[in-house]
Amino acid sequence: CRSLAIESELTLAIVKPDGISGNYSSSIRNIILQSGFTIQTQATLHLDEHTVTTFYAEHSTKTFFPSLIKYITSGPVLIMVLEKVNAIADWRTLIGPTDARKAKITHPDSIRAMCGEDLERNCVHGSDSRESAAREISFFFPHLLSGGTTLKHDEL
Ligand code: TYD
Ligand code: MG
Repeated sequence: CRSLAIESELTLAIVKPDGISGNYSSSIRNIILQSGFTIQTQATLHLDEHTVTTFYAEHSTKTFFPSLIKYITSGPVLIMVLEKVNAIADWRTLIGPTDARKAKITHPDSIRAMCGEDLERNCVHGSDSRESAAREISFFFPHLLSGGTTLKHDEL
């Protein structure tokens, strides 16, 4: 007997410091739940320079990198693992384009249009591929993908 399962997918979402300081966490959380995602786990952290440098390693040679590090380390962030069928692409669609200033014009219903400011201060992160999602989730929640649990998660 063969059955065809539509598998759900995990992605990593981050509410960046301007999203937290602007009190957008609960609006973002509502959008997440209304869009059919479940929040597998979440943690509030104040990231340090070393952590962000490792997380954003692919951008380490870019001219905007020092400024990006300064911004992401400027206050606490909310890191969430979201689950849904097609979670990775659907979360990217919900957050909208990288440049929040452009998002306000081209994607006014997107999360970045709602709470972001410009190309750097765009209030949320989303994994951009299966490979990135796997790397980013195991980076912050090392036991999650192998089925275990870690202790540092917030209570949901
Ligand atoms: P990137 O991975 O290109 O965008 P996204 O977050 O949409 O996947 O870039 C990572 C972050 O770096 C982006 O969210 C904001 C910042 N950034 C800048 O500050 N300046 C830039 O020119 C770019 C491209 C990104
Ligand atoms: Mg990216």
